[in-house]
Amino acid sequence: MTRKIIIDTDPGQDDAVAILLALASPELQVLGITAVAGNVPLALTELNTRKVLELAGRPDIPVYAGCDGPMDRPLVTAEHVHGRTGLDGPDLPDPQIALQEQHGVDYIIETLRNTPDVTLCPLGPLTNIATALTRAPDIKANIREIVLMGGGYFEGGNITPAAEFNVYVDPTAADIVLRSGVAVTMIPLDCTHQALTTAPRIAAFRAMTNRAGPAVAELTDFFERFDKEKYGSDGAPLHDPCVIAYLLRPDLFHSRLINVTVETQSPLTLGATVADWWRVTDRAPNVTFVRSLDADGFFDLLIERIATL
Ligand code: RIB
Ligand code: CA
Repeated sequence: MTRKIIIDTDPGQDDAVAILLALASPELQVLGITAVAGNVPLALTELNTRKVLELAGRPDIPVYAGCDGPMDRPLVTAEHVHGRTGLDGPDLPDPQIALQEQHGVDYIIETLRNTPDVTLCPLGPLTNIATALTRAPDIKANIREIVLMGGGYFEGGNITPAAEFNVYVDPTAADIVLRSGVAVTMIPLDCTHQALTTAPRIAAFRAMTNRAGPAVAELTDFFERFDKEKYGSDGAPLHDPCVIAYLLRPDLFHSRLINVTVETQSPLTLGATVADWWRVTDRAPNVTFVRSLDADGFFDLLIERIATL
């Protein structure tokens, strides 16, 4: 029984690797991919999504452009991490795959109204997901789970001392999702900072004889330079593929059902995800918060699957 998923994404080199992992995994049926403004503006995130599908030889997967900015504030982007194109590194040709006419939010609503048991996999700001939930609350009935990359608690933030980028860009959207009552699994920096692109791991991609392997190595070569400098670490955290790996091998991850609440007002801590890991409040548990992973097991899975593309 394959698991039906919709990927919502802002490629982003790590988003690209997550999409490739999903396409390389027969356990998953990617119904469609919706692009959102985040790492770079929407015109680039939708183009980058189509470039990745072309690289994977999957023109059958429909791509939709969603929201071009957060629900109630100006867009903040991350070219300093991902480069001007958002997918700096490999030279990926302009795609033949066409962008779908339908708006990404309309696609999410229509698909969920007609398809039961769908898992949503947001890899960027939650603007598309929150807009769909607000406009059509009835779709909750057909959402099996939302497994998202975002937030951070013990590790603090990355775009500010208090906030992780995806939540910081659209904290109102994140708050809507976390309060929605839908089953939410959060893969935060606390987990993804353990998934480091060390040299031996990247060498395994570079040595592959297909197109995807070397492309993943070139994507991470570019992507890791900023974080290696910032954290002084051996490699950079490979955030978004952790979402897909969680669907495939949840046993590689350690989590707890707790309350997570988003700061949506304070200028100092806007976008902070306050995780009640020790359950010291009476706030109702609303998130499966993933605090750690088996990094070797994660990369073994990623290398094994990318090699099949
Ligand atoms: O904070 C990391 C997240 O922000 C990742 O999803 C990365 O792609 C960026 O969107
Ligand atoms: Ca992303």
